[in-house]
Amino acid sequence: MSHTEANRVRIFDTTLRDGEQSPGASMTLDEKLQIASVLEGMGVDIIEAGFAIASNGDFDCVNKIAARVKNSTVCSLARAALGDIDRAAEALKPAASGRIHTFIATSPLHMKFKLQMEPEAVIEAIHKSVSHARSKIDDVEWSAEDATRSDIDFLCRAVETAIKAGASTINLPDTVGYTTPAEYEAMFRTIIERVPNADKAIFSTHCHNDLGLAVANSLAGIAGGARQVECTINGIGERAGNAAMEEVVMALRTRADAMPYHTRIVTQEIMRASRLVSTVTGFTVQNNKAIVGANAFAHESGIHQDGMLKNAETYEIMTPESVGVTKSVLTMGKHSGRHAFADKLKELGYELGDNAFQDCFRRFKELGDRKKNIYDEDIVALVDDEVATNANRMQVISLNTYSSTTGTAFSDVTMTIDGEEKKAVVYGSGPVDAAFNAIKSMIGFEPHLQLFQVHAVTQGTDAQAECTVRLEEDGRTVNGQGAHEDTVTAAARAYVAAVNKLLVKREKSAPGPV
Ligand code: KIV
Ligand code: ZN
Repeated sequence: MSHTEANRVRIFDTTLRDGEQSPGASMTLDEKLQIASVLEGMGVDIIEAGFAIASNGDFDCVNKIAARVKNSTVCSLARAALGDIDRAAEALKPAASGRIHTFIATSPLHMKFKLQMEPEAVIEAIHKSVSHARSKIDDVEWSAEDATRSDIDFLCRAVETAIKAGASTINLPDTVGYTTPAEYEAMFRTIIERVPNADKAIFSTHCHNDLGLAVANSLAGIAGGARQVECTINGIGERAGNAAMEEVVMALRTRADAMPYHTRIVTQEIMRASRLVSTVTGFTVQNNKAIVGANAFAHESGIHQDGMLKNAETYEIMTPESVGVTKSVLTMGKHSGRHAFADKLKELGYELGDNAFQDCFRRFKELGDRKKNIYDEDIVALVDDEVATNANRMQVISLNTYSSTTGTAFSDVTMTIDGEEKKAVVYGSGPVDAAFNAIKSMIGFEPHLQLFQVHAVTQGTDAQAECTVRLEEDGRTVNGQGAHEDTVTAAARAYVAAVNKLLVKREKSAPGPV
């Protein structure tokens, strides 16, 4: 297949906007910056960084990502309202390449009940919003929300209006995950054929996964003429999620014979992005998930293993290396030195400052004293934990727990709060409950615990536990992670990491000027 501009599919990642709309998936500014930098490194064409008008926190995220990212276009969402568009433009000012993405619904259902607008008024709003966006920035995308349930004649008029007003990307979302591949392909073909100025725009898919068809529909949209796909890492997003980027990209790469299109994604970075998004959001990836699930490249049955040993292609249609999966190899032990550790961090994609490196190295040595075999996953968990808990207002210093089958448990926790050491011994219905009660007694407030999740980083009873805690306070949700060989310590660290994020969110999430 020749890689021409005509068959290039742009990847528009909306993990930080539509992905963050998944209940519980909220991310801090630092986490979003980290994800944006991984997306930029993997060759994403457009990063939708947020919805600038939604809150001061969202504005800040778009603004800081716009200032940081140089090799991807940075985009902010905006409704068809002048105030939204102005706020998006303001947030995007530092961008090397910025895009305003404005949208309005075009289906009879949405226009009548949600917008309470007549179709003519919607056409007027499209003209006004896109023209206004173009007066602020050169790159404007327009979306017809609920396009797949819109009247096709009306949709043609709406698209023509948006292009005439200056939109250079036209997105036709399957907002409610309702369409089928054949319908979606036909919709693109019809619109591109019937809209007289269609050749002045790139068409885009945006598919939700309510019927499990988001990826299939996105690929069908490409067959129908779309050359941009909106998607998220691990498929996170509203309700059942969005099209999973890794699946769209690997389907195009693996089946280029059937689908002669290409993207610029560095596929070897896929696993890294998947792990990062999963860690930050606390959304574990199901074991059998395509491309990034733990079992995606595992071969259990004897017949398969035998075939694999003879020729990997018998049961593998793509190599694990092509998506950045490295075999879980024994990597290091307590005798490994500073250089070996630094090399390993580099290989795993970490760049740490001096202090963070020293702290991680010290913890690596301590781990080596307690755990015989240290795997890549152990190092990833340890470094993520260190980065998450370092330089925060509150830290767990030490913890002792007692628990028994009679249900008696207490936890003795020492922590620092703004540099001051505090200690509490508190009972609970189990050791984790007791540890959380002790922490709450010291921090002086009680956020609502929405999720507590534990998973073993590697195999064996000496494996590190990686815990996720999701806390909620006044509608603000945060996820905290902690890792340790002692599960209760990992849980306490995760709880305190979440509390630290909540404190930052309290300050930053004051409503924006809507
Ligand atoms: O699903 C949808 O319609 C959207 C639009 C705002 C693009 O997310
Ligand atoms: Zn969406």
